[in-house]
Amino acid sequence: MTLFEEKLAQENELISQKLAEYLRSLNIPPVLNDAMKYSLSAGGKRLRPFLAVAVSQLLGKDRELVMPYACALEFIHTYSLIHDDLPALDNDDLRRGKPSSHKVFGEDMAILAGDALNADAFSILFEFGNGNFKKGGAYFAKAAGGRGMVLGQVKDCKVPEKDRSVEVLDDINLLKTGALIMASTAGAAAWLDADDPTVLALERYGYHLGLAFQITDDILDITSSTEELGKKTGSDAALNKRTYPVLLGIEDAAARATEHCAKAKETLEHFAASEWKQVLIELADFVVRRKK
Ligand code: IPE
Ligand code: IPE
Ligand code: MG
Ligand code: MG
Ligand code: MG
Repeated sequence: MTLFEEKLAQENELISQKLAEYLRSLNIPPVLNDAMKYSLSAGGKRLRPFLAVAVSQLLGKDRELVMPYACALEFIHTYSLIHDDLPALDNDDLRRGKPSSHKVFGEDMAILAGDALNADAFSILFEFGNGNFKKGGAYFAKAAGGRGMVLGQVKDCKVPEKDRSVEVLDDINLLKTGALIMASTAGAAAWLDADDPTVLALERYGYHLGLAFQITDDILDITSSTEELGKKTGSDAALNKRTYPVLLGIEDAAARATEHCAKAKETLEHFAASEWKQVLIELADFVVRRKK
């Protein structure tokens, strides 16, 4: 087990406990709570909240200060997946190894559970958070909304496949996937009142990590198995999507992901050697060699 894997396993447990605790304290009636809880506890990797915690530890801050921010990220991410799987978007029936929300609760409740997770991410920030709202809160909101993840999803729906060059894909993916990952690194640092050069270094790290992450996601959609991935492989092909491996071939797409991984690690030169810097280095390696 690498140091990163060890830390992820540890923190994943704390994050999952905290997610359940926040959801409980929102006191949402079961008809809605059950659908929110189903997707939140279905077993995601928790990479985004983990990144936020890792940043807090890298910066020597109290973990408790970042927890509302970290969990709010997972609320937004989980809502984005519920909506991404809907028949109107990617039409996927399996997510995190379980039937997608709309297969269990119906499309109406999947849409509404997503809506609630989206808005209640902000409940968590406002009710339980005491970080830097002006800098970190604004970074978070921008990454989630119409200038960030949602805009990326819109472009992924609307940009014609024939127009998708590698540059166009980078633009779409920096929004749909990169924005929340940058919010997990730079946004978390801003929430913790880090200075601007630190926020910027972590933004560059998140930028390259985000691209490496989505290139790898597109490759795994072709090379992995549904069982291992916990979501249906061949989903992009079924939608005739021109992803990186389609444009470049699997080998060159993987090389591109590895380049971004190397660049992500380079940006960490801003920080002195430490245990948590090592975790972030190993995390970048994990993003490109992961199997799920
Ligand atoms: C999947 O994200 C969606 C993309 C941005 C490609 P993850 O692979 O982090 O999904 P979970 O949270 O582990 O299920
Ligand atoms: C979706 O990208 C990214 C989101 C913002 C949810 P994908 O559509 O490739 O994600 P998966 O493969 O379904 O997890
Ligand atoms: Mg999609
Ligand atoms: Mg999808
Ligand atoms: Mg995918």
